[in-house]
Amino acid sequence: MRSAKRLIERLRGLRPRADDVLDGCPLDMLASSFVHDPYPVYRRLREHDPVHRCKSGAWIVTRHRDIVASFAHPALGNAPSRFSVICARNRERYVCADVAHNVLPFLDKPEHVLPRRIIASVFRAHMKDNPVDIAGIARRLLEPHLRSGTMDAIADFGTSLSAEVISRLMGLAVADRDRLLYWSHHFFHLFAPIPSDEVRDRTDQALADFREYLRVLVQERRLRPGADLISNLLIAEDDGRCLSEQQAIDACMLLFSDGVENVDAGIANTLLALHRHPSEMLRARAAPETMPNVVLEGLRYNSPAQLIARVAREDLEIAGTSIRRDTPVFLALGAANRDPEVFEKPDSFDPSRNAAALLSFGMGRHSCIGGTLVRLQIECALRVLLQATNTIRIETDTLEWTPRVGHRWLKALPIRLSPR
Ligand code: HEM
Repeated sequence: MRSAKRLIERLRGLRPRADDVLDGCPLDMLASSFVHDPYPVYRRLREHDPVHRCKSGAWIVTRHRDIVASFAHPALGNAPSRFSVICARNRERYVCADVAHNVLPFLDKPEHVLPRRIIASVFRAHMKDNPVDIAGIARRLLEPHLRSGTMDAIADFGTSLSAEVISRLMGLAVADRDRLLYWSHHFFHLFAPIPSDEVRDRTDQALADFREYLRVLVQERRLRPGADLISNLLIAEDDGRCLSEQQAIDACMLLFSDGVENVDAGIANTLLALHRHPSEMLRARAAPETMPNVVLEGLRYNSPAQLIARVAREDLEIAGTSIRRDTPVFLALGAANRDPEVFEKPDSFDPSRNAAALLSFGMGRHSCIGGTLVRLQIECALRVLLQATNTIRIETDTLEWTPRVGHRWLKALPIRLSPR
């Protein structure tokens, strides 16, 4: 008995307890220090408590190899946890719960398989056959700001660019941009704990309106199909089966929202990294052909998607830690992207490295469908911006990050441009 106690004490001494790792404070992903810079916390967790139990009972996994293994774990599911507002039993009560149970990121096998195959293949084929002139749109959006010499690289440039690109692909009216953006911003509440009843109600209303808007559009496209992504989704078949009307509507909601919400942040985060590393900015200006590497490294260094949720569908183990059935498990992509086991000097922004092992787009059966489009948009946006200017200066000393669990989004990135 005494020797068992001694062993436990010894083991405790070898592996610091969670609170010791975090300087006595429980992990709070909405704490301003974490929102401002999560990387020191990720490092401590990765080094001392890589499968960490949060105060809420959920787990957070921070090492690259454990997250890669988790992506392939058959018992880690995507369906919302039964403790979440968007859980299955709330489908009748809340629109947001009903939408969640109809879109890819929250579906498990077997429901996930058919819509994933259809949506992924239609999206890829449509992108290939209907290339959008992304650089042309970026140049047009930039023009007035080159004259005024200032812009918010997010609202005036990144968001406008990504909204226009996805709207063109889907055949959505430019005039509808503002309401589409309002809805997509609310759609993204599905990916983090909904903070209050008020946000839940606003999200419910926004998603009900978004659905109604798309329902009308889908009915029109059935009658008069065009050469757009929505029309193609409606006629696509896999093994003789196609998407139901509600699946098609909710898939459009997902594609528009995904097409905007992280993409503008990817442009801003990479621009910020270049700005903070002037020699890399000079190199990127002098050698635009290096832009694909700059973008990949930007997405590794400060991924817009930081954390994704899974749920233990049965009792399981991750890296030797037992996790009980029904417990939420967060995979910290942002921490994996800074894991020194995979990336040498991970806290350096170094576009000359091979960042291909980044996890910003997930991996495996739910991996991102839009990765190619994302990289193309960030490349075009930055190339156009650098070509059109001699210098870019950030106009504030205090950058504010949005307090949204799981995302790394600047609220604004005001810049001063000196045109060439
Ligand atoms: C910087 C921008 C983006 C980032 C960082 C990003 C990241 C991710 C991640 C991490 C996942 C996996 C989620 C999981 O495993 O649970 C995902 C899934 C997905 N992404 Fe993206 N994404 C981006 C842009 C896009 C774009 C532009 C589109 C298409 C318009 C898109 C479409 C999707 C879809 C449909 C899924 C769901 C796949 C499934 O569950 O089967 N994403 N994305």
